[in-house]
Amino acid sequence: MPVTAYDLTGRTAFVTGAASGIGRATAVLLAQAGATVHCADRDARGLDGTVAAIRASGTAAHPHKLDVTDREQVDQAVTEAAAATGRLEVVAAVAGIMHSSPVLETRDEDLDRVLGVNFKGVLYACQAAARVMLAAASGGSIVTMASGAVDTGGPGLLCYGAAKAAVVQLTKTLATEVGAHGIRVNAVAPGWIRTPMTDRHDAAAQAHTEEFMARRAPLGRVGAPEEVAHAVLYLASDASSFTTGQILRPNGGVAMPW
Ligand code: NAI
Repeated sequence: MPVTAYDLTGRTAFVTGAASGIGRATAVLLAQAGATVHCADRDARGLDGTVAAIRASGTAAHPHKLDVTDREQVDQAVTEAAAATGRLEVVAAVAGIMHSSPVLETRDEDLDRVLGVNFKGVLYACQAAARVMLAAASGGSIVTMASGAVDTGGPGLLCYGAAKAAVVQLTKTLATEVGAHGIRVNAVAPGWIRTPMTDRHDAAAQAHTEEFMARRAPLGRVGAPEEVAHAVLYLASDASSFTTGQILRPNGGVAMPW
């Protein structure tokens, strides 16, 4: 029997980073839950794959090729997504890039690039989403993608961790500003998830992480994109109707902050 609190039938969702990894798994799962999904990414080929997979299962999906660091492109795509029904119930800002450099070797261009995608890209999606949701006056759920880096830190994580910490601050701040309008804003902070992003790490780094998770994480393994997508679905749906300004951590238990 379907659990109705997770049912997104008749709702419209907008997902950035939808061409790959966690974003793709999220777009596919939100569609399985019944939402019409607008898939945004700069990778046109990957987007086509996600949209085809969703349509093959009989749900509507629409691609938006865009760069999340371009405010105008994000505004336009979010506005288009809301045009059909006048509403946009769910926005998941998942697009992100990895970067690692020691503090003493970090250049301005590293900071600008990582903060541009991982923070400003999320900010633009949140601003566009909140404007559309406020205008529709029917509430909504915004989900941002942080990272376990906000809990643990680690060598090389200055740019990436700073951007993700800023995403957490954005999430909490926006939650306080729009909660009275029935708009909820929450972050997901995954631990190590096997995706094309992590597959691009060198073999030694991957082996080290898998060994670390096997030894230190209570669940003894790295995660799968679908396991993060389920966290997003929870926050996107009415199942989390009393939850806002929170960080949900699908991380295998590797960090357990208060
Ligand atoms: P991925 O590399 O598989 O997917 C990222 C997607 O974002 C790609 O489709 C890429 O084209 C898109 N993207 C990147 N820059 C963009 C831009 N400027 N404009 C539009 N699209 C852009 O990576 P993954 O692992 O699925 O990561 C998704 C999110 O989850 C990221 O925000 C990442 O920081 C976060 N995350 C991932 C973890 C992991 O272990 N894989 C752990 C914690 C957080």
